[in-house]
Amino acid sequence: MSDEIRDLLEEAARRARQETDDEPEPGMAGDVAWPMQVSLGKGLEGAIATSTQIGYVNGAKGWLIYRGYNVFDLAIHSTYEETAYLLLYGSLPSRRQLADFSRLLVHQRPVPPTVFDVLGMIPTARTHPMAALRTAVSVLGTLDESAEKLTVADETDVAVKLIAQFATLTGAIARIRHGREPLAPRDDLGHAANLLYLMTGEEPDPLMARIMDIGLILHADHGMNASTFTTMVVNSSLADMYSSVVAGIGSLKGPLHGGANEQVLYDLEDIQRPENVEPWLDRAQASKRKVNGFGHRVYKAYDPRARILGPLAELLSRRDLATRNLYQIAVALDELMTSRLGKEKKIFPNVDFYSGIVYKAMAIEPGMFTPIFAVSRVAGWCARALEYLGDNRIFRPRAIYTGPPRMEYHRSIRGPSDGGPFQEWKS
Ligand SMILES: CC(C)(COP(=O)(O)OP(=O)(O)OC[C@H]1O[C@@H](n2cnc3c(N)ncnc32)[C@H](O)[C@@H]1OP(=O)(O)O)[C@@H](O)C(=O)NCCC(=O)NCCS
Repeated sequence: MSDEIRDLLEEAARRARQETDDEPEPGMAGDVAWPMQVSLGKGLEGAIATSTQIGYVNGAKGWLIYRGYNVFDLAIHSTYEETAYLLLYGSLPSRRQLADFSRLLVHQRPVPPTVFDVLGMIPTARTHPMAALRTAVSVLGTLDESAEKLTVADETDVAVKLIAQFATLTGAIARIRHGREPLAPRDDLGHAANLLYLMTGEEPDPLMARIMDIGLILHADHGMNASTFTTMVVNSSLADMYSSVVAGIGSLKGPLHGGANEQVLYDLEDIQRPENVEPWLDRAQASKRKVNGFGHRVYKAYDPRARILGPLAELLSRRDLATRNLYQIAVALDELMTSRLGKEKKIFPNVDFYSGIVYKAMAIEPGMFTPIFAVSRVAGWCARALEYLGDNRIFRPRAIYTGPPRMEYHRSIRGPSDGGPFQEWKS
């Protein structure tokens, strides 16, 4: 790895430790005894859905842990392939295991041509790439004869295929939507470099490939976020991994979740210049609009992933003028938001704030940002769905009913919305 990137990552880790080290977060790790008493807020805030050995978001410290390893260490030392192995199988692979796993991923990269045929039928101009990805994975499931085998071992095989093939599909979608032919995956490139190649048609330089790899590591897992939970909920009904992951894609698409990275870029472009940040934010706050790329249900400290992606965006901003302008706007917005809402409401940039600048600097269009997120997160979705499947219980919360207590059945020929008197009779 280049010394510059290593220095940048080590500095981000050092600052995270320095700024957040002694914040406690009681009760979120350790032994579990069911049933448990928790205080619940709307949107399942505070709910404990399960226990897990896969990962931990320490929202008070701003730390992210995969299987005991701090994500800063993984960003410095690991690769996406190794991180995916860690999430799926529980420990870091030996050299041999990693080589075998990487070879398996390469082997699984090609997808049946039927998937491209279906993608070619989608109206490209108005279909969001996440909708195309959702469709493609669904088609993939119909073509995989092991899709309906529901043992943990079979579903693990499907998970490996999905991890390999999400990159192929995302590369194909990036090209098909502009009328270009999808490219064949390259056996000689790692997961991140191959993804970039499939999207842009050019073999990336090692720096870009390494930065994409770090981005993939950072997005691979993140607690019981909406898309992971969605995936687990579907899998808990013993549906199948494809159905579960398709649902996860649907959840990730939304701008309150993974879709925020795309929206951030549009905001930065809309702001145009750093001097415009203040009036832009004044208007956003006056209209009570949430600012894309800020805030988090769990983090009440600076998101560790943003601590890395911000400096990576800065590094890339030194290479070209357009990225520099976007980065300068982002920094101005970060500083102003943090000064206005950081202390008071604990609102800081999240993972989606700087990632788009990084991808834009790689010549990737904003619509593809969330699919890239999915290329990474599919590892976390599958790992958690598989872990839960090992001791499965269907998810089934309840809602408090606030409708009328008891109504007698009536049928009307005209509804109240028609304005005038309406006839009704008992049936
Ligand atoms: C991530 C998010 C959905 C979390 O939602 P949540 O946990 O339900 O948080 P809440 O909506 O309850 O917000 C808590 C408070 O912070 C404020 N807040 C949260 N995110 C904010 C944002 N991005 N900009 C401005 N204010 C924000 C809310 O207005 C609320 O203030 P109040 O207590 O005065 O009403 C939310 O922060 C958001 O919409 N962020 C923007 C979209 C985004 O970047 N999503 C990617 C997440 S990784």
